Amino acid sequence: MPLVSMRQLLDEAAKGGYGVGAFNVNNMEQIQAIMEAARETKSPVIVQASRGARQYSQDKYLYHLMLAANELYPEIPLVLHLDHGNSVETCKSAIELGFTSVMMDGSLMPDGKTPSSFDYNVQATREVVAMAHPKGVTVEGEIGCLGGIEDGHGAGLDGLSHLTDPAQAAEFVKLTGLDALAIAIGTSHGAYKFAKKPTGETLKMDRLIEIHKLLPQTHLVMHGSSSVPKDLQDIINQYGGKLKPTWGVPVEEIQLGIKNGVRKINVDTDNRLAITGAIRKVFFEKPEEFDPRSYLKPAREAMKKVVALRMTQFGQAGHAEDYAPLPLSVMAARYEQKRAA
Ligand code: 13P
Repeated sequence: MPLVSMRQLLDEAAKGGYGVGAFNVNNMEQIQAIMEAARETKSPVIVQASRGARQYSQDKYLYHLMLAANELYPEIPLVLHLDHGNSVETCKSAIELGFTSVMMDGSLMPDGKTPSSFDYNVQATREVVAMAHPKGVTVEGEIGCLGGIEDGHGAGLDGLSHLTDPAQAAEFVKLTGLDALAIAIGTSHGAYKFAKKPTGETLKMDRLIEIHKLLPQTHLVMHGSSSVPKDLQDIINQYGGKLKPTWGVPVEEIQLGIKNGVRKINVDTDNRLAITGAIRKVFFEKPEEFDPRSYLKPAREAMKKVVALRMTQFGQAGHAEDYAPLPLSVMAARYEQKRAA
């Protein structure tokens, strides 16, 4: 089966009342970990790559690794999504390469740092929708600004300074015609999200519920959704790391989000922690080792465990074979029908 439209995966998730994790990758081992977790749990999959990941992998390595994954795991519906596209050009190059879904993050200017105006965001996102939908490619947009910095992208703000305004979100969806909407509710990219377990003051689930009430048909996206589990922090610190105490987004809050329109959940940091902890452990316990496989294998296994657990917790487990993936041309025809209606 070819790489699949993200819109189809999210529509199916909405029907089934579950969420789908979107896991970031930079290399082969991360893709392998996700695909093994998907096979074990029978999950549909969104693999996402940031601009930094595309640079790191020279685009082509990443794309061909995804084709290999698709060939080796034919039973798994598999999406390749661009995370935080900073400009129309970046989204265009991803679509040309073969991404089946793109995020136009017009909440920031193309420098990926400066918060933009509403009008700029609408215009850039509309442009990407106009370019992507005729090809059947899905578009995610963002309104409000997430906290922190992801792979060099982000205003570096705290999670609460540019929360999504619900009325503006509704206007944004109407004006852009996008497929999925990332909202800012207090989460941040990276390990340091909250200084203590989040409360309603720091993680604004009420606001998410308000947005869902205004936009019941829109697939919501939670970025910065790593839970930063203490056991993964502890392994790193036990073997020489120096992480400061920190809290992520509790899984039960994500599950509450899923009950209220969240269909895509972005996770990167938890996997980075799992990989780093496993590698540190080998370096510490077997300093005589120098075959990279001696630490990359346990690293891959540690990431697989985290991904499989999240797939089960988000509810996507067991849904890989619910539906036949549609070709992008069918998705394109659907968008055209809707536009003409
Ligand atoms: P985390 O840093 O919480 O894993 O978030 C990743 C993310 O939102 C990617 O866009």
